[in-house]
Amino acid sequence: MCGIVGYIGQREVVPMLLDGLETLAYRGYDSAGVVVVRDGELEAVKAEGKLEQLVEKLKGESLVGSHGLGHTRWATHGAPSERNAHPITDSKRRLALIHNGIIENFLPLKKRLIEEGWEFTSDTDTEVVANLIGSYLKHDLKAATQQAIAELEGMYAFAAVSTVSGDAEIVAARKGPPLVIGLGDGECFLASDPAALLAYTKNVVFLENGDLCRLTAAGAKIWDRDGREVERQTVRLTWDPIQAEKGGFKHFMLKEIHEQPQAIQDTFAGRVDFETNTIGFDNFALTSEEAARIERVQILACGTSWHSGLVGKFMIEELARIPVDVDYGSEYRYRDPVVGEGVLALGISQSGETADTLSAMEAASDRGAQLLAICNVPGSQATRISEGVIYTHAGPEIGVASTKAFTTQLTALFLLALYLRQQRGLPIEPQQLSELAKLPHAIADIMDTEAELEELARRYARFEDFLYLGRGINYPIALEGALKLKEISYSHAEGYPAGEMKHGPIALIDESFPVVAIATGSRVFEKVCSNMQEVKARDGVVIAVTDRPAEELSEVADEVIQVPRSSDLLQPLVNVIPLQLFAYFVAVRRGADVDQPRNLAKSVTVE
Ligand code: F6R
Repeated sequence: MCGIVGYIGQREVVPMLLDGLETLAYRGYDSAGVVVVRDGELEAVKAEGKLEQLVEKLKGESLVGSHGLGHTRWATHGAPSERNAHPITDSKRRLALIHNGIIENFLPLKKRLIEEGWEFTSDTDTEVVANLIGSYLKHDLKAATQQAIAELEGMYAFAAVSTVSGDAEIVAARKGPPLVIGLGDGECFLASDPAALLAYTKNVVFLENGDLCRLTAAGAKIWDRDGREVERQTVRLTWDPIQAEKGGFKHFMLKEIHEQPQAIQDTFAGRVDFETNTIGFDNFALTSEEAARIERVQILACGTSWHSGLVGKFMIEELARIPVDVDYGSEYRYRDPVVGEGVLALGISQSGETADTLSAMEAASDRGAQLLAICNVPGSQATRISEGVIYTHAGPEIGVASTKAFTTQLTALFLLALYLRQQRGLPIEPQQLSELAKLPHAIADIMDTEAELEELARRYARFEDFLYLGRGINYPIALEGALKLKEISYSHAEGYPAGEMKHGPIALIDESFPVVAIATGSRVFEKVCSNMQEVKARDGVVIAVTDRPAEELSEVADEVIQVPRSSDLLQPLVNVIPLQLFAYFVAVRRGADVDQPRNLAKSVTVE
């Protein structure tokens, strides 16, 4: 959803901006641009397409200045083109602006500005913001920005530089999409995601909604929505910059798949006491009375995080005996949900910045629910609006397709389910924890079968349609397997509850429509085998994921992917791994851009 980066200080500006943009490229890659301010002049270079196009174009330029901004775009208003690429200047070319978000009242504002004589050369809503600030700009960029944002409706994060500023400065504002300031020694940074700043500083300040800030080399000043100067807490990031690099892997996605054993371990380490069989968290605690008062858990999430919520429902209902609903963030806020005290609203988000999830969380909280977040990004909005947070310790996830964030969310959900169980006076069985401890090894073992999965993907990469089937707790894994395949390889894939196939989708089955069936665990194994039989009887092709010996499936499956056995509640974490790898290798085989699939962005910060 567009990446923003800004720098002011003694370093060479453009290399820093490009480096930051490279990390943020997952947020959008339709076009990119940079601007620097040199001797009171704005110098900008923009290019349609990926960041490499901009880098190529910059080779012929000598862009130097005291401070500057960089942007990578995911188009909302106006097609991807150089004309619509950011930075966008006002028509007097006294300021340049980069923006992430949507200005909802851009049409009436544009009409008014045109009447006032301002010109528009792009199709973006961003140009409205640039001209609006321009219309108020005399000598003080911060004051003009403050006046302009009072008139803006919608969600935005933007940053501006100007030629009228006496001292070098960057002014930025946030309402909705994230913005984080990085503090250095005699320098200041700005970015949409702290991952872009890791190589430069670990001291960051997250802007709150409604904040406006002014950055100079000496530091940052922040004003809240009422115009009062405020101090925001400086957060020390614990992420390692190396984690935001590919580390020898061809793609971030493959690297992140491989990081899962460690990430899962990092997520349960320190929270489980294997001697006393107890669970505890740093940023979330309930007394037994509070736990007893929870009547219902409402999980709110989008995409892959929503899939993890579906698995979490099984975990929490079985272990803590609390009923759980799972809602899409985008659906929840536009109906009239029954919420109130007694509801624990649980937002699940890798980024902590997904607009739909955040709005749903706010809606639940407004109606009296207690708010808890499972989140990967420290200090992100989801963590700030919640009363409690369970962090997933996945480290930065750069590949657009979520992998390690998903399995660490499942780990956190399992811990939460056990914690609720414990606080409601039910014992945690040692075996539940020992199975958790074994998971990293089990998953590492699947990585050893990577070559076989690559070969399988080679054989199936030409198919255009796939059906993924799972039952019970593995139905969400069928959804997730299908989502991974479709989003990165552009093959059509549908996830379905295996038992439902006969109520419709079975009509699609023929030899050109492979079915990936998850047949693990004790509860529904035979049932899924019957469903595979139904596919075979219609000349379908079956790829089975199983924890049983391959011979047991010889009648019903054409291909068998074997996975280690875990407990029924943890088996989804194992089963999803070969599906991630299969999707990855199919996508590579089809020549798709795995880390930056078309039309997608990693953090969806607009509604
Ligand atoms: C798919 C994927 C998306 C995200 C969704 C929510 O691979 O990554 O479906 O899961 O956009 O994002 P977060 O978890 O950041 O709220």
